[in-house]
Amino acid sequence: MNPSTLEDIAHTLLNDGKGLLAIDESTPTCGTRFADYGIDNSEDNRRDYRAMLLGTPDLGSCVSGAILYDETLRMKTADGTPFATMMTANGIVPGIKVDTGAKDLAGHPGEKITEGLDGLRERLAEYHDMGARFAKWRAVITIGNDIPTRGCYEANAHALARYAGLCQEAGIVPIVEPEVLLEGDHDIDRCYEVTLETLTQLFAELRAQRVHLPGLILKASMVLPGKNAAQQADVREVAAATLRCLYASVPAAVPGVAFLSGGQGNEDATAHLDAMNRLDAGKAPWKLTFSYARALQQPALDAWRGEKANVDAAQAALAHRARCNRAAALGEYDA
Ligand code: 13P
Repeated sequence: MNPSTLEDIAHTLLNDGKGLLAIDESTPTCGTRFADYGIDNSEDNRRDYRAMLLGTPDLGSCVSGAILYDETLRMKTADGTPFATMMTANGIVPGIKVDTGAKDLAGHPGEKITEGLDGLRERLAEYHDMGARFAKWRAVITIGNDIPTRGCYEANAHALARYAGLCQEAGIVPIVEPEVLLEGDHDIDRCYEVTLETLTQLFAELRAQRVHLPGLILKASMVLPGKNAAQQADVREVAAATLRCLYASVPAAVPGVAFLSGGQGNEDATAHLDAMNRLDAGKAPWKLTFSYARALQQPALDAWRGEKANVDAAQAALAHRARCNRAAALGEYDA
């Protein structure tokens, strides 16, 4: 592992208001997204959709990297160019989701543990050969009556830290993503408390596994009331609570936090990021940017609907959201 290479990759990914595009849905999840529009979940449709997104003119001016699913990294575009080659030519660093999904955590009803450590060293070497320079692993933390439990916090933080260490050994920047889910009727204070504990436990495990903090990116969820909470929070409240939580738990050595959108509305995800960057006004030691899947893709999918004739409109929709989110990462978004 060369620490300065990792730091250089992280810097490229986080620099200049740019953020990440997550298009790493597993095949079944992609099928769920397509089903809403009656699009067949075929290999050709998955390839065409993702090639269309990544081929958006000038996307690289707002998006520094894109997270792919295994199948996509192995694919070629219709003209025979490997995806990673096409991305690099467009100024977009190829990334790869390497976890194999969240499974039920034994003995902990309602809680999940993310799997994928077996054979990961070998898979990372192959992904590096194929051009991937960063990776993602998502842990899921659910808020409910009596959960999360200590066992869930610890098991997920430990797996994230083991994954991060293996990535760095392979010369790949790990994105560590502990997502506190939006589902539930909890209030914003409960989300704050759970997110704080999640991040505190995560950084304890990352240190224990000797992970080089300047060579990783934290993918965090924002501090929000549950989707079904009686009282929702305004933009400033979410931004302030999220910043407070990060200041209390994220070491200054971490170069950046790239948020997930987690089911927030597209404009909400942008407004929250913008408010954080305005409130903080560049004081934080880390960059605050985006790593959205749904909040970037949804308008593009809505425009595309599986039709060739809609490609320009779909690319324009993605380009618009990418520009809005880059503005938000600079604290310059004007709704
Ligand atoms: P959303 O932005 O849709 O939450 O997805 C981000 C992601 O990559 C989840 O792992």
